[in-house]
Amino acid sequence: MQFVDPAIVPKKKLYTGVEMPCVGMGTFGSDRVSPREVSEAAAGAIRCGYRLFDCAACYGNEAEIGQVFQDAFVEGVVERKDLFIMSKVWNDMHRDVEKACKKSIEDLKCDYLDLYFIHWPFPNYHAPGCDVDSRNPDSRPFSVDEFMDTYRQCESLVEKGLIRHIGISNMTIPKMDAALPLMKTKPAAAEIEMHPAFQQRELQEYLEARDILPIGYMPIGSPRRPQRDIMEEDIVDLEMPQVQAIAKNHGISPALVALKWAHQNGQVPIPFSIHHYYENLKCMTEDMLTEEEMASMATLERGNRLVKGHVFLWEGARDWHDLWDEDGVIVE
Ligand SMILES: NC(=O)c1ccc[n+]([C@@H]2O[C@H](COP(=O)([O-])OP(=O)(O)OC[C@H]3O[C@@H](n4cnc5c(N)ncnc54)[C@H](OP(=O)(O)O)[C@@H]3O)[C@@H](O)[C@H]2O)c1
Repeated sequence: MQFVDPAIVPKKKLYTGVEMPCVGMGTFGSDRVSPREVSEAAAGAIRCGYRLFDCAACYGNEAEIGQVFQDAFVEGVVERKDLFIMSKVWNDMHRDVEKACKKSIEDLKCDYLDLYFIHWPFPNYHAPGCDVDSRNPDSRPFSVDEFMDTYRQCESLVEKGLIRHIGISNMTIPKMDAALPLMKTKPAAAEIEMHPAFQQRELQEYLEARDILPIGYMPIGSPRRPQRDIMEEDIVDLEMPQVQAIAKNHGISPALVALKWAHQNGQVPIPFSIHHYYENLKCMTEDMLTEEEMASMATLERGNRLVKGHVFLWEGARDWHDLWDEDGVIVE
């Protein structure tokens, strides 16, 4: 059986001192892969040595993945304490975070969550599988008061022992500048889009300076992302000549180059995979990129954000750029 001893997978330390694996499994089926297929992959992943799982209520598969966790506990494959389980509160539950959290814990059959993210920093809801032109008339711009109300509910979940750490996701520097000073419990991690053509260096430095661990989503450039997130001008990371040349040097696929780069660059990548999860874990334990190769990867930044977020826009917003505070101020 293909197995990577979890003990040899490098670890990252959160500011609390708690460690987590340097790579995890993403579980968003991108509206294309069924909950059953995702959970079957999760079952295989646990048995091949994965210990970190990135889940979310809005992925619509937590109950199936929870069954996989429970089977693994019952069969003695792992104990709960061996896993690092992350989930996220979806935008329609910002006013009742405890209910959402308890539902995720119940579905994932995991007693507590190691890290619980606020998936988006505003309550703008869109239905699963919606298209790029879909808008919710109730959507509104970021409000630090509203965000902090949601965040304080997360702080109380830590106090109650339902979650061990709080995470933020899809945040910008101006939004963090506004929110961080108001927090009692610092976020341990921030989930943000990161791949070779979208490196978010300034945001990464900001997080690292505050001991908030960057967790990089879409590390491979999400080749099968939902249709609403595909634009003609998007760059295909794995087709960049430098990535291909490094892959050739090592005799590996361009996808593994993206993952090794992510790890060596300091973020925790959480690749989704049905067919390649074993190699995605194994690649963290051998044959890392050289300094020259890392320098070559650093030149690939193209500002190519893939999750533009159109469906979260509010009435009066200009376009998706408004979600990302690109001029250094919160767009309201
Ligand atoms: N916080 C947020 O707002 C947010 C947003 C987006 C995503 N996420 C999280 O990030 C995770 C990853 O993002 P993603 O799933 O969109 O994109 P991704 O991990 O960049 O790409 C996944 C795709 O890459 C393929 N792949 C994986 N490993 C490969 C390899 N070694 N060789 C060739 N192809 C490979 C997979 O195919 P196979 O299945 O065939 O292996 C799958 O189609 C999500 O699952 C989710 O957990 C979070």
